[in-house]
Amino acid sequence: MVIAIDGPAGAGKSTVARAVADALGFTYLDTGAMYRAVALARLLGRDGAEVGFDDGRVTLDGEDVGDRIRTEEVTEEASRVAAEREVREAMVARQRELMGEGDWVAEGRDIGSVVVPHAEVKVFLTADPRERAQRRAAELGVDPEEVLAQQRTRDERDSSREASPLLLADGAEELDTTGLTIDEVVERIVGLARR
Ligand code: DC
Repeated sequence: MVIAIDGPAGAGKSTVARAVADALGFTYLDTGAMYRAVALARLLGRDGAEVGFDDGRVTLDGEDVGDRIRTEEVTEEASRVAAEREVREAMVARQRELMGEGDWVAEGRDIGSVVVPHAEVKVFLTADPRERAQRRAAELGVDPEEVLAQQRTRDERDSSREASPLLLADGAEELDTTGLTIDEVVERIVGLARR
C-alpha cells in the first residue's frame, strides 16, 4: 500500500508522514530530501553525484547528508532544481523504483498526482500560510515575517512551475491542519488507510 501525502512547505507533512508510517509499520519516504540532496550536490559542484535512499537516510554517493540538506541555502536551491524537468524525471523514476514493493508513506508535492497516481490513500495537507511560517520560524528560531516572505516566493515557484506543479491530485482528500494537533491529523490519515 502507498499513502501519498502532498502539500506546501510547513503544512506538517514530515511530522505527520513519519507518525503515520510508525503507526502502521510502513516505510517513510521523504522525497523533498531527495531534491535537497540534488541541490546540495549542485552547490558542492558535484552535479553527477548519486542520490540514494537507505534505511530512512538520504545519501549522496553513499554519504549520509541528512544534516547538510536542511540549511537555508540548500532549501532555496532545492526549490530551483525541483523545477528542472530532467531532475524531476530522474527523481520520479527513483521513487517509483523504491515504492514498487512494500508499504510506504511518501511525502512530497507530486506523489499523488505524478509519482503514484494509483496510491490507495492520497492526502493533500494544507494550513494557513501564517501558521505555516510560524511553525517553521519556531523550528529554526528565526523571524516569522522573514520566513513568511521567503515561503511566499517558494510556494509561488512550486505551484506555478511547468513540471509537476503543486496541485490537488485527482481523488486526494484535502486536509487543513490549521488549529489541529498532530495526533488529530495522524488519526484521520490512519483511519483512511484502515478503511
Ligand atoms: O518538502 P521540502 O521542503 O523538503 O522540499 C524541498 C523542495 O523540493 C521544495 O522546493 C519542493 C520540492 N519538492 C518537489 O518539487 N517535489 C517533491 N515531491 C518534493 C519536494
